[in-house]
Amino acid sequence: MKHLIDIRDLSVEELDFLMDTAIDIKNNPEKYSEKCKGKKLATLFFEPSTRTRLSFEAAMYELGGNVLGFSEAASSSSSKGESVADTARIVGCYADIIAMRHPKEGAPLVASAKAGIPVINAGDGGHNHPTQTLADILTIRIKKGGFDNLTVGFCGDLKYGRTVHSLIAALSRYKNVKLVLISPEELRVPKYVIKDIINGNNMEYVETADLEEAIPSLDILYMTRIQRERFDSKDSYERLKDSYVLKRSKLENAKKDLCILHPLPRVNEISVDVDDDERACYFEQALNGKYMRMALILKLLEEESLNSTQSVNEDLIYTIKCKNPRCITSVEQELPHIFRLTDKANGICRCIYCESKEKNT
Ligand code: NCD
Repeated sequence: MKHLIDIRDLSVEELDFLMDTAIDIKNNPEKYSEKCKGKKLATLFFEPSTRTRLSFEAAMYELGGNVLGFSEAASSSSSKGESVADTARIVGCYADIIAMRHPKEGAPLVASAKAGIPVINAGDGGHNHPTQTLADILTIRIKKGGFDNLTVGFCGDLKYGRTVHSLIAALSRYKNVKLVLISPEELRVPKYVIKDIINGNNMEYVETADLEEAIPSLDILYMTRIQRERFDSKDSYERLKDSYVLKRSKLENAKKDLCILHPLPRVNEISVDVDDDERACYFEQALNGKYMRMALILKLLEEESLNSTQSVNEDLIYTIKCKNPRCITSVEQELPHIFRLTDKANGICRCIYCESKEKNT
């Protein structure tokens, strides 16, 4: 069975195929309007969402399928203490495919092991958000024709911004992509992303706190919201929340063909006077998300009918405990703690749910 938990579950060829399909859907919607007739998508959203949930639902309706689900944890049995694994096992009896958003890192991975149907990660805590990446890459391909040799600036909350982690992972597959990581010191990209993804793929990168200085060099500027809900202290959120505000006046020295993206929702990090600039692509990006989700649902259901399996080829360790309080294992006591040996020479392992690092001694 194939799931989408991490954007790297899809090869570059599969991403190309999804983008080609999405464009074909956009141009020939009638061709696809009955492709999922009789199929059901379950949207299990334990965290707020506008674009992701509604675009998944619109995607399934436009494929001729049906939708069931919930939009907050309070209206599901998780409020009575049901585990993610049990919820997934039950929903697997009612639906054909699941899109799940959860505040804990690794929850959709847990669901994918139990549901018996394909599971799509629609955002797990501050970890990953692969279907937002699908929207991002289609927009970049349409605007730039490809990914090689681009200089991509990420600005804002690079620590908790799950869309940032997933898009960096996707870009790491292309040639000569340079990253400019713009954030306050406290909100820098997590170390595992720098080490495993950026250094692991020899990507060129700089870290800076200065947006204005960075702007002229960029082909893509990916703005993000400071993720209030992930902060441990209200004070540090208050101190950092207005770190960056992109105004039209700041674009004077930007490239004429800069592409400004934002996963949305914005709070105040892009002022509305930028919306009319032709370099603002974030509303188009949200629309592209629907076509990519249509292409993804089609692909996963098709592979399901062919009975394909995701290959498993890894060294797993069951004796280490994950200490990350944001990991799904911190709240679901019954879950096995499982680590993957990622650096054999130094005995470095990472939790399969949240990617926290431990040493295997
Ligand atoms: C993002 C998310 O949920 O991570 N939103 C989205 O899905 N488009 C970004 C955010 O909430 O800031």
